[in-house]
Amino acid sequence: MHLAELRNACWRLLIVFGIVSALLNAGCSTSAANAQFATDLSQPQPPLPRIESQNGRHALFVDGTPFIMLCAQANNSSNYEAALPHVWAGVDALGANTLQIPISWEQVEPVEGEFDFSFVDALLAQARERGVRVVPLWFGAFKNTSPSYAPDWVKLDNDRFPRMIRPDGDNHYALSPHSKALKDADTRAFKALMEHIRKTDPYRTVIMVQVENEVGVYGLVRDHSATAQAIFQSPVPADLTEALGVPSGDWQSVFGADANEYFTAYEFASYVGGLAAAGREILDLPMYANAALRHPIYPQEPGEYATGGPTFNVLDIWKAAAPALSMLTPDIYIAESDPYLATLTQYARQDNPLFVSETGTSEAYPRFFFETLGRGAVGFSPFGIDATGYSNFPLGAAASDDATIELFAQNYSLVSDAISEWARLGFENGMWGVSRPDDHSQRNLDIGKWRATVSFDEWQFGRREWLPKDSDTIRPKNASEYPNAGVLVARLDENQFLVTGQNARIEFSTNPDAQPGRNMIFVRVEEVIYRNGEWVFQRMWNGDQTDYGLNFTDLNQTLLVTLGTYESRNESRPKATAF
Ligand code: DGJ
Repeated sequence: MHLAELRNACWRLLIVFGIVSALLNAGCSTSAANAQFATDLSQPQPPLPRIESQNGRHALFVDGTPFIMLCAQANNSSNYEAALPHVWAGVDALGANTLQIPISWEQVEPVEGEFDFSFVDALLAQARERGVRVVPLWFGAFKNTSPSYAPDWVKLDNDRFPRMIRPDGDNHYALSPHSKALKDADTRAFKALMEHIRKTDPYRTVIMVQVENEVGVYGLVRDHSATAQAIFQSPVPADLTEALGVPSGDWQSVFGADANEYFTAYEFASYVGGLAAAGREILDLPMYANAALRHPIYPQEPGEYATGGPTFNVLDIWKAAAPALSMLTPDIYIAESDPYLATLTQYARQDNPLFVSETGTSEAYPRFFFETLGRGAVGFSPFGIDATGYSNFPLGAAASDDATIELFAQNYSLVSDAISEWARLGFENGMWGVSRPDDHSQRNLDIGKWRATVSFDEWQFGRREWLPKDSDTIRPKNASEYPNAGVLVARLDENQFLVTGQNARIEFSTNPDAQPGRNMIFVRVEEVIYRNGEWVFQRMWNGDQTDYGLNFTDLNQTLLVTLGTYESRNESRPKATAF
């Protein structure tokens, strides 16, 4: 056994020990599914979380095992100990395995050079007790583009830390990313945070770090200060021209009409990427920058969105300028299915693992969990999950709307017990997901030798088209009562799949190109639950439960589906009334 394997075996034992202790600890509110911490410091430490990529797929490894972050993101002002009970209430309500929560510059360095990490200590200790992982959100010089979370000594001293300058010479609201003084001060504070986490968190409670929050600038396309002007008139850095395959020259001559925006993107990416690189030298955790989106479909002009942030049109610039960032992530608050899925397409790239780092919580959003995970995401995060009484309605659910939060919780509960298994299968073999589109139309999936068709609003026993239109008997409830609808499929081997979902039907057939002249037949459809690292058989689905596809309701059901074929040139089952 190699040394690394031995270390892995040791901390796996510790993890088992941790789970058993948590189960025995009757007074603790920790969920057993989440209680996976090795906390005995006399033993080898778990490996650092890392992103791995292979065959165009990505995975986040936590404790050496693939992991998917089922996140809850706390509200902005919940980064104080007094708010933590409300935060844990939100995490528990969701069944989240990961909490994203701000750590702000004003909070940790209220006086220049004097650091206070008492909140970090309280947060991580409480998270460990609950078996919840943490992703700190570094609210430094830029939070939704503004310096609101910078300490007084930064945001009030605009001689030392200048704001961006408008074309008319006036101050703009955002600080200038070209300021070396700002970057140095922000970097020093961020490094102090990373050093503190390095020293106090050998348990790997912290698994990833967000650097700044939704950077960019609204209402301006670039800084017009003398400093910025001088850089703008200089040659575009060679790392960027080489990465983009464009000739050298100054910004205007190389990029023409896009010069101002690309310049701003490069400067913000260098700023955020510089912080990430400095932080990772201290503790090499995956880091990311989140994007306030440019609309993925409708045209918008620079200045109308957070210009210079990692919007889809400048991802290549960010990739070139900020290699220390593992991911550029979309914050998706667009509830329609076409733009939501277009955003997933824009950010799920060979060079960019997908992570929906924030999303809305109103009733249109839970369904997107399925397609997000199906595209191999390392995480999914509804925003504003805590019981502090604040709601970002209408982007999020109204404060009183627990029912919608329960839909997210229901989706998490489909996979949370076996999250490492879903993550491993997705990374090694492939995962597919479908979320009900706004028009409720069916969706087809190509899965190697097989095809799958996912449809919605079906009655369980038969097909919609078999009954007269408008028949009340078609649907047990009105379709709009099923806002949370979708299916998730992971491949175990080429003929065997793990399938779960909500309020949807999935049907399998052969891919005629891969299996000509053959029809699909179920070999076995087993309902399973995950216990002690294994899929445990509950019952077979057959007869009415398989003749009309596999129908998921709002119950928590997972199926292990084994497919086979028989020789035939005809469709497997005539689509006529058959009951
Ligand atoms: C996006 C930001 O990143 C969050 O911090 C928060 O302000 C939400 N918007 C509110 O919807």
